[in-house]
Amino acid sequence: MTQHSKSRSNVATMFNQIAPKYDLLNHLLSWGIDKRWRKKTIDKLIDSGALSILDVATGTGDLAIAAAKRNSKFKITGVDISAGMLEAGRVKVVNEGLASNIVLLEADSLNLPFDDHQFEATMVAFGVRNFEQTVKGLSEMFRVTAPGGIILVLEFSKPDRWFMPLYGIYSKVIMPLIGRIVSKHSTAYTYLPETALAFAQGGEFCDLLVKAGYSKPTFTRFTFGIATLYTAVKEQ
Ligand SMILES: C[S@@+](CC[C@H](N)C(=O)[O-])C[C@H]1O[C@@H](n2cnc3c(N)ncnc32)[C@H](O)[C@@H]1O
Repeated sequence: MTQHSKSRSNVATMFNQIAPKYDLLNHLLSWGIDKRWRKKTIDKLIDSGALSILDVATGTGDLAIAAAKRNSKFKITGVDISAGMLEAGRVKVVNEGLASNIVLLEADSLNLPFDDHQFEATMVAFGVRNFEQTVKGLSEMFRVTAPGGIILVLEFSKPDRWFMPLYGIYSKVIMPLIGRIVSKHSTAYTYLPETALAFAQGGEFCDLLVKAGYSKPTFTRFTFGIATLYTAVKEQ
């Protein structure tokens, strides 16, 4: 599956191509529900008391921006491999007046350019399933987290069985069609749902967090399991 390969350059190229329409399609295709999922993720971030935060695979910065709007003390560094997504994100950060809270940098989650223990929390929304090596990416997030810090992973998951027929039609027919028309990219919106269903879910993903070094993994499914929020801690 060459055009769907998770290699760094294929993923970056695909996101560079869809970047101008990414936000529009994101909110349109999720009917805005993603905002509620992000809010719940940020609730956990606030509960943790962390103020220095790394947002991995930040894309156009939606999670970082939503977080900084909730707490003006947050200092958030967002990293992504797609220059196009970051460019769109930087415009939003400036327009929202959050330039003193958020900095966006081009970097690979598999090789983060930060010191050990630099952040009190790390988070990633809808990015972890794109990593070429999941545990390597999670281990890097673990490395840069201070002892006592947390990780938050928001990711698509396989919905409840009763909802699957409806979700199947939506994600396999309607989503690729709308995605293709709006983004003009022929395969991106086939790739996104396909990777969501194939990726580690629930307890299986918690095991990957433990493999990366984390403790006390938990998960909460949102909206019939379409998305799941995972949390875990780096022990003191
Ligand atoms: C579906 S978007 C999610 C963006 C954003 N977090 C959000 O919630 O809208 C996935 C992002 O992951 C980025 N990405 C994929 N692999 C990456 C990697 N190895 N390192 C950093 N970013 C990566 C892509 O470039 C893309 O911007």
